[in-house]
Amino acid sequence: MEDLSPRPGDLEPIETASLDELRSLQTERLCWTVRHAYEHVAHYRSALDEVGVHPDDVTSLDDLARLPFTTKADLRAHYPFGMFAVPREQVVRLHASSGTTGKPTVVGYTRDDLDTWAHVMARSIRASGGRAGHLLHNAYGYGLFTGGLGAHHGAERLGCTVVPVSGGMTERQVQLIQDFRPDVIMVTPSYMLSVVDEMERQGIDPRSTSLKVGIFGAEPWTNDMRREMEERLDMHAVDIYGLSEVMGPGVANECVETKDGLHVWEDHFFPEVIDPVTGEVLPDGEEGELVLTSLTKQAMPVIRYRTRDLTRLLPGTARTMRRMQKITGRTDDMIILRGVNLFPTQVEELILATDELSPHFQCVLDRDGHLDSMTVLVERREHAPLPVAQEAGVRLRAAVKARIGVSVAVEVVDPDTVERSVGKMRRIVDKRPRR
Ligand code: DLL
Repeated sequence: MEDLSPRPGDLEPIETASLDELRSLQTERLCWTVRHAYEHVAHYRSALDEVGVHPDDVTSLDDLARLPFTTKADLRAHYPFGMFAVPREQVVRLHASSGTTGKPTVVGYTRDDLDTWAHVMARSIRASGGRAGHLLHNAYGYGLFTGGLGAHHGAERLGCTVVPVSGGMTERQVQLIQDFRPDVIMVTPSYMLSVVDEMERQGIDPRSTSLKVGIFGAEPWTNDMRREMEERLDMHAVDIYGLSEVMGPGVANECVETKDGLHVWEDHFFPEVIDPVTGEVLPDGEEGELVLTSLTKQAMPVIRYRTRDLTRLLPGTARTMRRMQKITGRTDDMIILRGVNLFPTQVEELILATDELSPHFQCVLDRDGHLDSMTVLVERREHAPLPVAQEAGVRLRAAVKARIGVSVAVEVVDPDTVERSVGKMRRIVDKRPRR
């Protein structure tokens, strides 16, 4: 794999500034954000009044802990534009979450917000190893989802040649990769696997493509999946994180030279980790729910937004800013199976340790009588005949029992039979009857 480490002069000064410098910039920006939100968003004014905190009382980063959390329910309650802090006419772009569980959450951006977003996305692509002049294949979905357009403008800002492919039409994805010879691909990790399968179906060796780096995010994926991708594609696989409520992709990104967790772009987003049950702020290093506060957003500032994503904060390495460990899962994706907590990422790790099984899998939940049950539906690898793969399934079942501590069923199926997605993969299929 090519060495894509940054060269001297590539980084912005703030990326390697002293911690003191960073904290002082954050303090100034936090004070601005709280005042801006209080003065222009009715929800924040009443939420702060309720806890008796006035913007004048917020003078340091420690004061953040006195502010109330913001949840997705708060955003929904003010659907569609009630969380905006500027007149709608100054909002030049809207995006929205998919809204599978009710009304979508709408987010808005001023022209300056779009500029900030392009800036942090360009920084993210550069951290991943992308450079001006690279050709970048963007397979994140374009539309209300923030992935496509977010990546697009960041790549243009960095000076890449962008191919705005969006998701879907997998054969064409492969053809464009063969013909245009991109250096960088941006796509969800689960869809990347489908693209790689398609290459193999067409007799193309995925290691022979021009790709140097894949920037994967929008859903959880493990370090074992990184090894799988890097091995199959002979390229770097780097993690990108973000969420529409806070901006979109480009809130945090791994650095290609270390691949040791995602540096949070703390000059624009202030991270905290809390105990998801008590709401208590946890010290760095402890795992809990990530909470983010925007520091520069104009159209829709967010104060202490509860992401539901589980991670822990670690000190900076390749940059001054703190890292977050790869996301384990979301609090609402945690399966509680007969009292044992379990995330699809744990199953992914065990599957990837089994040669005969492919990373195309789903966790199917059902109920037998009073007891919940789970079946891991997993495809065999092309090279493994079904009986051999079924034996591997038996070993997977034992590994889940030994490592996670709960009995599940494993059903090994033929390649290309587990549901595919062109964006975020649905890892949990819940067939349990509603009580
Ligand atoms: O998924 C933004 C994005 C687009 C990020 C492209 C990265 C690349 P939403 O649709 O609002 O925004 O979904 C946000 O996706 O709260 C996480 O649960 C999950 N997620 C995003 N990135 C990662 C990641 C985009 N790298 C939700 N690892 C977040 C794990 C991720 N989960």
